[in-house]
Amino acid sequence: MCGIFAYLNHLTPKTRKEVLDFLVNGLKRLEYRGYDSAGIAVDSADGRNVSIIKKNGKVQALQDEIYSREADLAFEATADCHVGIAHTRWATHGTPSERNAHPQRSDEDNTFCLVHNGIITNYKDIKLFLTKKGHTFESETDTEIIAKLMMHIYKKNPNDTFQEIVEQCIQQLEGAFALCIKSKLFPGECVATRRGSPLLVAIKTKTRLATDHIPILYGKDFRPHGGTAAETLTAASLMPRTPSTAEFQPMEEDKQVEYFFASDASAVIEHTNRVIFLEDDDVAAVKDGTLSIHRIRRNMDDPHAREITTIKMEIQQIMKGNYSFFMQKEIFEQPESVVNTMRGRVNFDTQSIVLGGIKEYIPEIKRCRRLMLIACGTSYHSAVATRQLLEELTELPVMVELASDFLDRNTPVFRDDVCFFISQSGETADTLMALRYCKNRGALIVGVTNTVGSSICRESHCGVHINAGPEIGVASTKAYTSQFISLVMFGMVMSEDRISLQQRRRDIMKGLQQLEEQIKEVLKLDSKVQELAKDLYQNKSLLIMGRGYNFATCMEGALKVKELTYMHSEGIMAGELKHGPLALVDETMPVIMIVMRDPVYTKCMNALQQVTARQGQPILICEKGDKDTQEFASRVLEVPHTVDCLQGILTVIPLQLLSYHIAVLKGCNVDCPRNLAKSVTVE
Ligand code: AGP
Repeated sequence: MCGIFAYLNHLTPKTRKEVLDFLVNGLKRLEYRGYDSAGIAVDSADGRNVSIIKKNGKVQALQDEIYSREADLAFEATADCHVGIAHTRWATHGTPSERNAHPQRSDEDNTFCLVHNGIITNYKDIKLFLTKKGHTFESETDTEIIAKLMMHIYKKNPNDTFQEIVEQCIQQLEGAFALCIKSKLFPGECVATRRGSPLLVAIKTKTRLATDHIPILYGKDFRPHGGTAAETLTAASLMPRTPSTAEFQPMEEDKQVEYFFASDASAVIEHTNRVIFLEDDDVAAVKDGTLSIHRIRRNMDDPHAREITTIKMEIQQIMKGNYSFFMQKEIFEQPESVVNTMRGRVNFDTQSIVLGGIKEYIPEIKRCRRLMLIACGTSYHSAVATRQLLEELTELPVMVELASDFLDRNTPVFRDDVCFFISQSGETADTLMALRYCKNRGALIVGVTNTVGSSICRESHCGVHINAGPEIGVASTKAYTSQFISLVMFGMVMSEDRISLQQRRRDIMKGLQQLEEQIKEVLKLDSKVQELAKDLYQNKSLLIMGRGYNFATCMEGALKVKELTYMHSEGIMAGELKHGPLALVDETMPVIMIVMRDPVYTKCMNALQQVTARQGQPILICEKGDKDTQEFASRVLEVPHTVDCLQGILTVIPLQLLSYHIAVLKGCNVDCPRNLAKSVTVE
């Protein structure tokens, strides 16, 4: 995720160097969120313009650049009132580069500069509108349209306040955003707003705050119902303004105040613990040292105020939220990450899916001879998990290959092959080598990655960004479920004109729509799984059995157990039991079995009875309420029913949790397991 940090000092003299150090340090507190470039915007040395400095790579590189420009930034100059904004970027639109880094600007004079966390899903429409109005664009980002839209609104309404310009702008945006904006037209002022991405305001004064809340001011809705961006922007210029009355002002005896704006509290806690957590569609504006919060009235039970809370968390704790490890946090982020993967792509109202990154290649893919899914580790398992559905929806042969083995065999590849390369990091050497092998043989290359600008991303002809957000833990969790969904979405796109599959597609769409709540329900098993981990963590081995749509789940669960707990674990195809693995089963061998109400249910019940007949004491992952299977189980983890091809999203989560809890009980390093790296960039 991107990181936002801004600092406003009012009647508190600060040298330019102090301000710049505040900004850089704020970004360093946000580095854990994952990023690929960084930037800042401050007043220029003459105080009349704005200087923007951006750098690809680490925040340290940005700091080095800033310090190399000490002279033209006038480090020793002092300002009583100043606004600086800063950003760490996790690329979603446009490769990591200086021109795509934030702050993004409205024009070459840096009239409006802003930093953004989120995804604007209607940016192409707005970009087209602005292009027709004569605006030119310098970046590949969705963010840039926001700055230029503000400039457009300002030119139409030059007498509007900074806050009013921002309010009109955000009503044209769809998707998710947290924004911090500065403008040389409004020196000493800062406006911040959010929808779908977190943003807070922190307050620092020399004296105790006179209040513990800030009243909310309501303005009018500028958007006539159903209006287009152009019509709305025209109409907005005619709308009356609601004068602001209630505001937050520092204590009378001193007007000195400092405000901090940030994506999360880890960036402000060292300065102050008085924080206002903004809510969606809040517009926070600071003018002449006074903070006001504005909203557009929607209905009469809208909130009346925002509370100023006192946070008591330690920095380290805040970076992981309420979690002990990043991997644990990422497991619990999955209700949100699966939504982000589908955001702007799946339209549940029209039952349609658009994958912009491969859209123009779909006709070519439909004419191909076969699909090849090539990856390593967990990413490979996401391919196995979706192979059956892709065969069904595309009616094409689907080969699933481990990249290393694929290269060892010098597998034949042809021009009419379509090869998918699935990789969270986008840098896995085996997968990248396999990509180049296939590309050299004329195949169409489709990248499915979580990292914009990665090698696999750049060397693919087209692709899908899984939008899972940065995955810090070495053991992959939310990337797996997002890769899974990305491949399901691809299958749905390929079958949208298949009459015979319309009911199947409706069932899958319904399953996708329910995923967020169903994942939350499965995560409630956490304490039950923790109890199970206490029974298992001293074992030498753990077998995980399943078949059909859940065979991949068994392999992925076994990989999680191996890499996190260093315990041997094996994912076993239940249909293979009689061909050997059954010899492993006795009353001492822990066995987890996945038995869901799907086309292979009876066969799984057969395997379950084979295990119990050998005194095995299987632990069941089964469908909620399925009593038939539970009589054979020593313990049961129930997950909600969903369409068969999406079950693997739900059944993998108890195994992610189990591997996590066993690792904690064994004192393993959860986020950085021994011998492993987050990205295996060597063959
Ligand atoms: C999974 O938990 C491991 N971290 C590992 O298997 C990983 O999935 C594999 O190395 C592939 O990485 P990639 O998705 O970045 O290509």
